Amino acid sequence: LVLVVDFGAQYAQLIARRVREAHVYSEVVPHTITVAEIEARAPKALILSGGPSSVYAEGAPVVDPAVFETGVPAFGICYGFQAMAQALGGTVAHTGSSEFGRTPLRLSGTDSALFHGLPVEQSVWMSHGDAVTAAPGGFTVTASSAGAPVAAFEDTARGLAGVQFHPEVLHTAHGQAVLEHFLFEVAGARPTWTTDSIVEEQVELVRAQVGGKRVVCGLSGGVDSAVAAALVQRAVGDQLTCVFVDHGLLRKDEARQVEEDFVAATGVRLKVVDARERFLTALAGVTDPETKRKAIGREFIRVFEQAAREVVEEAGAHGEQVEFLVQGTLYPDVVESGGGAGAATIKSHHNVGGLPDDLQFALVEPLRALFKDEVRKVGLELGLPDEIVWRQPFPGPGLGIRIIGEVTEERLAVLRDADAIAREELTAAGLDREIWQCPVVLLAEVRSVGVQGDGRTYGHPVVLRPVSSEDAMTADWSRVPYDVLARISTRITNEVRAVNRVTLDITSKPPGTIEWE
Ligand code: XMP
Repeated sequence: LVLVVDFGAQYAQLIARRVREAHVYSEVVPHTITVAEIEARAPKALILSGGPSSVYAEGAPVVDPAVFETGVPAFGICYGFQAMAQALGGTVAHTGSSEFGRTPLRLSGTDSALFHGLPVEQSVWMSHGDAVTAAPGGFTVTASSAGAPVAAFEDTARGLAGVQFHPEVLHTAHGQAVLEHFLFEVAGARPTWTTDSIVEEQVELVRAQVGGKRVVCGLSGGVDSAVAAALVQRAVGDQLTCVFVDHGLLRKDEARQVEEDFVAATGVRLKVVDARERFLTALAGVTDPETKRKAIGREFIRVFEQAAREVVEEAGAHGEQVEFLVQGTLYPDVVESGGGAGAATIKSHHNVGGLPDDLQFALVEPLRALFKDEVRKVGLELGLPDEIVWRQPFPGPGLGIRIIGEVTEERLAVLRDADAIAREELTAAGLDREIWQCPVVLLAEVRSVGVQGDGRTYGHPVVLRPVSSEDAMTADWSRVPYDVLARISTRITNEVRAVNRVTLDITSKPPGTIEWE
């Protein structure tokens, strides 16, 4: 275990991911963590992250010097580096020469564990105003830059080191190597955290939590719930029942992938509820986006509730109890909502909010410690098909919020066909991993004149909304090559009768959201 102490930068989660990429398990903890709490967790190392503030700013978070007397190896990055220097008796000053962005770094040439075998000149990513001007006693200065006379220091005997630059960002040429040198050479960590070890560990934890009780899990068709369910299935087999509510708002082939491919890959016991009619009825005449979302959410929870009750009753008939509900909560949700147990509640409320009091379950969250890329690796390890593991993010209300206007069965069929063509062509062009997602939106209440074959048509436009993003909070429209767009457009207008125009949305987020409703 490596603890990344978060000083409020956007970088702490990224550092934790990089540590995990080196096959060492790591978690983010707030900077308010005490020395006793650190010792209780017995980490192999600490990493002090960057932070937005100057160590001189009022209220700037400080590091208790006692941290460095615990014998736990520590690595300071950017703000963490300066805070470490200050705590140990070095000097941090406003030098007036801040550095931001790509910066040349020069090694001092002295023996260095951090930079072992790396080039004397290298490019690093900097972002600082203050600089360390004198290293604390016992440390060797191993690199410098124009604006940071002490850009790296290390005291390998005490297991302490730090760098002014950001090794975790890709713009730092040898960042991962520097981080791994700290982990393996300075801190003596070992690269044992692998995908199969994660599966093994989670399987054990789920077994310990669930015991002989029964578990229920709602499958959405998305990757998180699929991987969570597959893990729990691996752990407790037929004690798990999955519920898949087919609301008819999924994309082409997705329901089949859940009902057939997922079941074939996992052997999971699946209860499918065909609620397509019910959702269409609830959506009849509804055009307002919020009303649509609410209607879909309300129907979903009612149908799920009914199915869960049936699972409970069926178990009861065998003298068994259903006590647990599986949730695909991921690590970023846990960190962002503050870490502890309360965090899980916020997210789960969100997902199954609305279950009545007489139908409450304890949560099983086997992905709580994982980032999305790790969830995908675990999914592959568990033998899930690529189509599920690499599925794009897809909104809960599904195609319902991609039909602008009333949702009808005919319109869903049109959108499903157009969407399938766009997906096929983007996949064929090898763009799946570059594009975050590409909603296809049917402007069902707009018509335009066209000519198809030798006749005049009066059809509907679809909008392609390919975006690139890190986390869906912000996004930019993807520069999909013109020839790929041309193929999508030609195929949709040829193959989907009701559509006679294909348009491209070139709005970033903000100001536009990713979805149209
Ligand atoms: P927006 O449209 O807000 O979407 O930019 C951001 C991301 O969230 C997805 N999205 C949803 N996901 N339930 C979900 O589970 C929803 O109601 C929902 N609405 C939007 C959207 O696809 C994008 O990835």
